[in-house]
Parts: sequence; C-alpha cells; structure tokens
Amino acid sequence: KKADNQLLVIFGASGDLTKRKLLPSLFELYVRNLLPEKFRVLGASRTAFTDEEFREEQRKAILDSPEAKPYDPEQVGRFLQLVHYLSFDSTNEAEYGKLKERIEQLQQQNGLDDRIIYYLATPPVMYESVPVSLQKQGLNKPRTREGWRRIIVEKPFGTNLESAERLGEKLRKIFPEENIYRIDHYLGKETVQNILVLRFANGIFEPLWNRNYIDSVEISATETLGVENRGKYYEGAGALRDMIQNHLMQLMAFVAMENPAVFDPEPIRDEIVKVFRAIHRYSPTEIWNDVIRAQYTGRTVGGTALPGYREEKGVAADSTTETYVAMKLFIDNWRWGGVPFYFYTGKRMAEKKSEIVINFKSTPTQMFAGQCSGSSCNKLTIRIQPDEGITLKFGLKMPGAGFTVRQVGMDFRYSSLSSNYLPDAYERLLMDAMLGDSTLYARQDALEASWGFIDPILQAWAKKPDKNLYTYPVLTEGPEERYDLLYHGAGAPGPEI
Ligand code: BG6
Repeated sequence: KKADNQLLVIFGASGDLTKRKLLPSLFELYVRNLLPEKFRVLGASRTAFTDEEFREEQRKAILDSPEAKPYDPEQVGRFLQLVHYLSFDSTNEAEYGKLKERIEQLQQQNGLDDRIIYYLATPPVMYESVPVSLQKQGLNKPRTREGWRRIIVEKPFGTNLESAERLGEKLRKIFPEENIYRIDHYLGKETVQNILVLRFANGIFEPLWNRNYIDSVEISATETLGVENRGKYYEGAGALRDMIQNHLMQLMAFVAMENPAVFDPEPIRDEIVKVFRAIHRYSPTEIWNDVIRAQYTGRTVGGTALPGYREEKGVAADSTTETYVAMKLFIDNWRWGGVPFYFYTGKRMAEKKSEIVINFKSTPTQMFAGQCSGSSCNKLTIRIQPDEGITLKFGLKMPGAGFTVRQVGMDFRYSSLSSNYLPDAYERLLMDAMLGDSTLYARQDALEASWGFIDPILQAWAKKPDKNLYTYPVLTEGPEERYDLLYHGAGAPGPEI
C-alpha cells in the first residue's frame, strides 16, 4: 500500500542520521516503489548547501552505505531529484517564514496536498524549540481538510521522567498525540515484530509462555563499536538511558505482554504500557544488588592500542558514565511473577549481537547421562541481529549404546527464505509514519512508565557515582562482576551436535 502524496521535512539534515539512515532508507523505499506517487524531501539545517551540493553529499552517503548493496548510481541520481535543501537556522524563529515559503513552493510546484511529516533529526535541545517555532508560523496545522501534520521525534525523548513528561506536554500542545511519532528503531526491526507473530499466530507457545514453564528470560544487545564521535552525547546518556530505557524495555514488552484484543496500534500500545507499569520497582538495596554498570578500558589488540572510554573524544578523564549495564528485574503480574528478566547491554564488547533467550524450566528429575543439569535443555533464542532467526534447543539421545543426552537445535534463519530482503528498521518506520500507522512508535504513557522504572536507578547512581561501577577491557564479554551479581543458575548448556 502506498501512502498519500506528501512532503517530508528533515530538521538537522546535514547530520549523521540523515546520511546514515534516513536518506539510504528512503532510497530503498524508492527502489521498491513504496514511496508515495508524489513525494518530496526537504532537508533543513544550518550548513550552507545548495540543493545540488546537498544531493551530492547524500549521493556519496548512499553509494558508500555500509550495507554495500550494488546500487545503480543513475537510480540514486533520479531519487535525489526528489530531495531539496534549505539552509536554515532552526534556532532562529525569524527564519521559519523562509521555511514556510519553501514548503509552499515545493507543494505547489509538485502538486502535493498539504500533508507534511516533520522529522526532528536535531540535537535533543531543539525538540521543544522547533515545534514552538513551527506553531508560531501556523506550520503545525494543515490548511486543508485532507491535509495533516505529523512529527517524528528521535530519541532521547527526555533524560528522565520529569523531562520526558515536560517534553510530552509541550509537544501535545502543538500536535495531537496521534500525530506524534516517537521513534524507537528497535521496533522497526523485522525480527522484533516477529516476536508478536511468533507468540500470537502460533498455538504451541502460549500454554508455555508463563511462570510455570519459563525459568528466566535474557535480553541482550551488545556492540563492538565504542562511542565513536558521540562522546559528548553519550557522557550525558550512558547505557541505561541509551539502550535500556528504550530498546531493551521495548523488547521485554513484546515478550511479556498479553495478546491485544485486535492488532491495532492502540490496543497493542495499551498492552505495552501494562507491562511497564507491572515491573517491580527496585528498593534502594535492590538497585545495588541487581544492577551493575561498567566502563570499557583500553588495551592493545593485534598491535593497535584501543582507547578506553575515558580516553575517548568528548569524554571526561574521570567520567563515571556507564558503557555497560547488566540487571535483573521482575514483572509483578500473574504471568511473570518470580521469573527473572535479565538485561545486558554494552559498547565495545566482543560481539555485535542482539537476542532474546527464553530459558524453559528443566524436567523435575534428571534421568539421563549428559542431561543439561542445573538448567534446562530447552531454550528458545530469538536472534534479532545479526543472523536473524529463531532457534529452539532441546535434548536428544546420542546415537549408540546407552542413553546419553545432547542438546540440539532446530533453526530458522531469515537468510533461508527465498525472498530474504530484510528492510532496515528506518525503512519500516518511515513507511509507517507516511501511512499514519503508529503501532511501532512509542506512546507517551509507555515512555513515562519506562522512565518511572529507570529514574530511581539514575538517582541512586548520581548520589554514589563510583558504587558498582566496574571495568572491562575493550572487546571482551563485560565485567566479571556480572556473574556475582546476576548469577541466574542457568549453568552451562550441554554440548551441541
Ligand atoms: C541507538 C543508540 O539508539 O542504538 C546507539 O543510541 C546504539 O548508541 C544503537 O549504537 C544500536 O542500534 P543497533 O540497531 O545497531 O543495534
């Protein structure tokens, strides 16, 4: 299905996100013929580009994009004819008149109805001021009946509960809630959406999907990259805000939520909020027992000296910002009471990998040699990236005499599908916003509920910046202390054949 004709205005268009994600994703949609019949992009930011110079920048970025698909430069050129640029200082209210003129000109020249998506790819300090300035020019309301205005806000949406509430309140005075799209790109990932299908399109998992049969759930997202050139942002964020409050909590919500009555945005988002509200709030002692944080330290790998976090550009030499978090939490409801959920996330770790592991309870007695002892033979692993897929592990008899158990896996891999193109998360999310489908965007109440859970941890850490702050050498599995604090009795799985 194609969206109605429209204009996409990107604020902060000369930045990294536009180059790395937005324009390459729009190009993919173009190649797949999924963009609206009439469609224009207007990039707006301070750098003084002409349309042509901006296109040239983006052309390089698309052709060099790490996905390294063999793009046809001529096709990229044709796509870029849809892209325009306005050199514009979004901090200066007086300039919004210029923006308005350019928008109206593009709409007229290209036969576009008055439908506009504003994308805030700017630093978060602008999330309030840009909408306020848009409102002053009347740019927040459509001029025609069939028109609309939507706004996409990048993360971080606030830095704690209070600021998230304040930002939400401000935005809702300017755009109605249903037109505010708070992006969490994890929800755009195919494999994440598949959790819902796996759970709600199959009858076999639901009877087991609860505290009676599930021993624990592990949700992890590790990266090999460090903070790159985002040191300044990351110093004020840290792994808890950067990954857990949004991405990992959303993954948890998909694993833990009840089935929505119908597959529509609001019923789904209602169930997500219920999960966040049911998370057991840590007592002060539990914060120190169940949450640990760490920073990567430098080391030499293959003759190259890799810097530690405190040596990165934009990072204070005595920074206590965490680049790693491991934590244990519980959901206080009848489905999940007593089942630990573990989160792990970190930068500069041994592997880039995001996955969810459902550990099922073991059999009441162990009858066979080699049977996975102390933990279950049965694990369902949902691999979000890379090698997207799902694996179910179980114990089987080793061929030959006796009864010796080996753990084996049943695998599904996306790469084995005949059409195995996996769209980037931004492709899906941009497409949804164009169509007006907010299912995969975070709603304000969910955001506030997740900050409500995270806030006490941030406050405790702010009071004792060094407590439970450990270290791990770059490109390793994280701090040793995670075992002491989070030992979950799963034990080592049996060997695989
Ligand atoms: C972003 C974080 O939201 O997610 C980054 O700000 C992080 O720090 C990124 O690197 C990870 O996303 P992905 O899709 O590569 O797992």
